[in-house]
Amino acid sequence: MRSLNPLIATVAAVLVGAPVWIAAQSGNVTLPQDKGPSTINVSSYPPQQQKAYKLFVNKCSKCHTIARPINTTMTKTEWEMYVKRMMHKPNSGISNNQGKEIFEFLAYDQQMRKDKNPSAFHKMLTDDEIAKLKAQQQ
Ligand code: HEC
Repeated sequence: MRSLNPLIATVAAVLVGAPVWIAAQSGNVTLPQDKGPSTINVSSYPPQQQKAYKLFVNKCSKCHTIARPINTTMTKTEWEMYVKRMMHKPNSGISNNQGKEIFEFLAYDQQMRKDKNPSAFHKMLTDDEIAKLKAQQQ
């Protein structure tokens, strides 16, 4: 018998792999941060930050709960790195300008809300800690 048409073989491999790939991109693991509040009261924030908050809620809730970033505390440098990391995930739907606006919101919110009461928030988890939670939840 002739070996399988390579095109069909490739399509079949992609179809079989797709659910795994989608699961890997969706961050479908529950982190402790996901269980906290899912809104921020921004009524005292400057108008520009209130606008950026809407963009943040819209863009950063695509793959995981918006509670995740709302309840994670990081330094400004870590937020900068982290927004870039999220932006560069496949299909993030976040442009460079949007990433910058969201980063500025997160840095402001960090200072106004999180730095004043750090023990109320979760420190960012390491990749290893996330991998462990994923393994436990499967
Ligand atoms: C394309 C999907 C996707 C989008 C969009 C996305 N994230 Fe994520 N996020 C993930 C995944 C997946 C993880 C789990 C860690 C990893 O694989 O990088 C994660 C983890 C996180 C964490 C946990 C950090 C830790 O180590 O405890 C934070 C905070 C976070 N994201 C913030 C954001 C912010 C802020 C945005 C919007 C700028 C955003 N995410 C948009 C997929 C996404």
